[in-house]
Amino acid sequence: MNILANAIDAFDQANKGKTYREIEVNPNVIIIHTSRLNEHQIKIQIQDNGCGMSQDTQDRIFEPGFTTKEVGKGTGLGMAIVHQIITEKHGGDIKVQSELGQGSTFTLRIPMKAAR
Ligand SMILES: Nc1ncnc2c1ncn2[C@@H]1O[C@H](COP(=O)(O)OP(=O)(O)OP(=O)(O)O)[C@@H](O)[C@H]1O
Ligand SMILES: [Mg+2]
Repeated sequence: MNILANAIDAFDQANKGKTYREIEVNPNVIIIHTSRLNEHQIKIQIQDNGCGMSQDTQDRIFEPGFTTKEVGKGTGLGMAIVHQIITEKHGGDIKVQSELGQGSTFTLRIPMKAAR
């Protein structure tokens, strides 16, 4: 939910100053791709074509309290919580790739437990 909420905020940011027609021609999309990496791991990729982010922001994105949003809008805790859930609860990992003005992709790898 935190990843999706951020993607929606990134759309708002990217759409600033655009006309309805421009948004219609190049619509906002979130693509979720799931796959099985091997016997022990699954991969979930969540991609948006929102505003993207700088390398500085990517470097700090999982830091608790880090936000680029205006006061009262972001607490900067969303991605820190995501990171904690993925790494500590599930023993997986999460990576971000982004290009300013192009969009962002989050790649999650999560270990699977054998079904019994
Ligand atoms: N999909 C995204 N596209 C562009 N920037 C993003 C995206 N996801 C995160 N960010 C950047 O990372 C920062 C940290 O994200 P995080 O979710 O931790 O905090 P927040 O969204 O600012 O506040 P909160 O989630 O606590 O309401 C954001 O302020 C934003 O700059
Ligand atoms: Mg957030």
